[in-house]
Formats: sequence, structure tokens, C-alpha cells
Amino acid sequence: MISFNRVTKIYQKDWVGLKDITFQIKQGEFIFVCGPTGAGKSTLLKLIYKDEDPTEGIIKVLDWNLGTLRKNNIPQLRRKIGVIFQDFKLLQDRTLEENVAFALEVTDIPPRDLRKKLMETLTYLRLSHKRFSYPFQLSGGEQQKVAIARALVRDPYILLADEPTGNLDAKSSQEIMNTLFDINYKGTTVLMATHDLKLVKKMKKRMIYLEEGKLTTHN
Ligand SMILES: Nc1ncnc2c1ncn2[C@@H]1O[C@H](COP(=O)(O)OP(=O)(O)OP(=O)(O)O)[C@@H](O)[C@H]1O
Ligand SMILES: [Mg+2]
Repeated sequence: MISFNRVTKIYQKDWVGLKDITFQIKQGEFIFVCGPTGAGKSTLLKLIYKDEDPTEGIIKVLDWNLGTLRKNNIPQLRRKIGVIFQDFKLLQDRTLEENVAFALEVTDIPPRDLRKKLMETLTYLRLSHKRFSYPFQLSGGEQQKVAIARALVRDPYILLADEPTGNLDAKSSQEIMNTLFDINYKGTTVLMATHDLKLVKKMKKRMIYLEEGKLTTHN
């Protein structure tokens, strides 16, 4: 469902993002992408939803070869991929519910189904009681759950999480981890970038380990 074949990403001024990376991910897997700061974790995730293009190599995601994917098909690719970030990236002037509903507006779901989907998702993440709150009225853990809700309402095949627990305390981190595992259990492929090796070792999941853009451990 995701494959990288000898992928290299060099940014301008010769900054190395990734160097000759090859791996495959099957549908339904949960994978940690680990490594120190600057190792290329975010770059790897960005290449998957075509936020960046590789300098060399072939990337396949779902049924697409991203190298030959036409520009007007990129929204179609992104609709199937949910992305969450360390800093949540919520719209500050919109309520929790509006933040999540916003993600559905760009799809072609009829309004009634949209409402149903929205409610289902908020209930699943136990956010319903706060649906009229603004991001500043929510804890970090709750804000991250809103970001997850926003990704999930579109029923993504793949969920990319870039340091989703980076700004959270241990308890909220655990809650977010459990949520990601549950989402994965229901069938979504999840890739999570983190530099928290202690957390990763506890979880006994597959891991891709990067160092200075190179893949050094891969199980
Ligand atoms: N837009 C960019 N322009 C130039 N260089 C970049 C750009 N984005 C990333 N890089 C470089 O690519 C390398 C990998 O960056 P990346 O953000 O993928 O690392 P990371 O593993 O996610 O790090 P962190 O743990 O700090 O988030 C770094 O050396 C970085 O400086
Ligand atoms: Mg990063």
C-alpha cells in the first residue's frame, strides 16, 4: 500500500532529507518512524502525501505512482490520507465541531450524512460534550483529539502522525497512543513519527529508524 524504492530527497542548498530509502508497508500495519532530530522523519511523511517530491526514486501510495500522479489527482490522494501534527494546526476562530466539519466540506457527502458522520466521530473520540468549545478552551490532549477527529471523518486509508505526542504530558500521550492503536485495529494503516524510543520499545510494533536521512534499522 506504501512503497519507497531507492528514494532520495535533497532540499535546496544540498540539505539531505532522505538518502536511498527502500521499504514497504502493507495495508493495516502500524509503523513507528524514529530517529533523532533532523533524521528525515517529517520528510518521509511529507513524501507520502506529496507535500514534497523526491529528488530520486519511486514512491507508490495506494494505487498511485506519485511520480506520475497528475496534479489534479493530488486532492484525491490526500482525501485518503489523514495527517496530524505535533502542534495540532486547528483553526483558532472555529469551534471544535466546526474544525472537524470543515474537513468534510470539501468532500461530496450529502449534508445529512455529513452530520451523522460528524456526530459519530465526535462520540467515538469522546469529544461531543465540548463540541462548542474553541481550541483555546481545550487541553493539549483534547486539541490533538480534535485533529484526529478531523482526519478520521474522511475515513482515511492511511493516517500519518508527525510527533503527535510531542507537546503532551505522559497521560495525554498514552491516551493519544491508545486512540491511534484503536484506529489501526479498525483497519487504518498508521505511520507515527517520534523520537521517543522508550515509548516505541514498549509498544512492540514495527519500526523504521532513520539517521541523517539513512535507514539504519528496519524490522
Ligand atoms: N524545506 C526544507 N528546506 C531545506 N532543508 C530542509 C527542509 N525541510 C527539512 N530540511 C532538512 O532535511 C533534514 C531532515 O528534516 P526533517 O524535518 O525530515 O527531520 P525530522 O526527523 O522530522 O526532525 P525533527 O525530529 O526535528 O522533526 C534536516 O536536515 C532539515 O534541515
Ligand atoms: Mg519532524
